[in-house]
Amino acid sequence: MIKIVTKTPQELEYLGSRMAELVAPGDFIALDGDLGAGKTLMTQGMAKGLGVTEEIVSPTFTIIHEYETGRLPLYHMDVYRLKQPEEMYDLGYEEYFYGEGVTVVEWAQIIEPLLPDEYLGMEISVVPEGRELSFVPHGDRYERLIEELTGCDYSKYR
Ligand SMILES: Nc1ncnc2c1ncn2[C@@H]1O[C@H](COP(=O)(O)OP(=O)(O)OP(=O)(O)O)[C@@H](O)[C@H]1O
Ligand SMILES: [Mg+2]
Repeated sequence: MIKIVTKTPQELEYLGSRMAELVAPGDFIALDGDLGAGKTLMTQGMAKGLGVTEEIVSPTFTIIHEYETGRLPLYHMDVYRLKQPEEMYDLGYEEYFYGEGVTVVEWAQIIEPLLPDEYLGMEISVVPEGRELSFVPHGDRYERLIEELTGCDYSKYR
């Protein structure tokens, strides 16, 4: 597993914008971590990197926000307030998960059974120095993405 510590909110946001330069249509990022860890900030960084011009708000009450003004569509979800995973079907989640945009889900572990076969898992933890990001790629595509993002040879970490 590759871990990165970001010392400031700006650093975390920058990492998100770097990630946005590497993502492709259909990519899926699963974010986890405590309340206030930085999941929304990471998404805001990605939106910046994609060139999204709208403001990225925390989607807690709406579950899904769709932003179409960037290089790729960005589907931002926060599933914290789902009553049950089945609600995802009512939201038509598959259109997003398997669509042409990039999907970012906060609290993704809540809908673990619905996650695609391949995705990038990212866990954000609060540490004394700032935030520690742990990347868990599911699939070759995401191993390569992390290698490009971090400059690390992922095979060494298997
Ligand atoms: N090193 C750091 N990296 C990222 N965020 C930091 C850091 N230090 C402090 N913060 C602060 O932590 C907060 C992260 O908030 P954010 O809304 O992104 O969290 P979240 O994981 O989305 O929370 P929630 O579970 O409530 O949706 C921001 O207010 C940010 O300024
Ligand atoms: Mg959030």
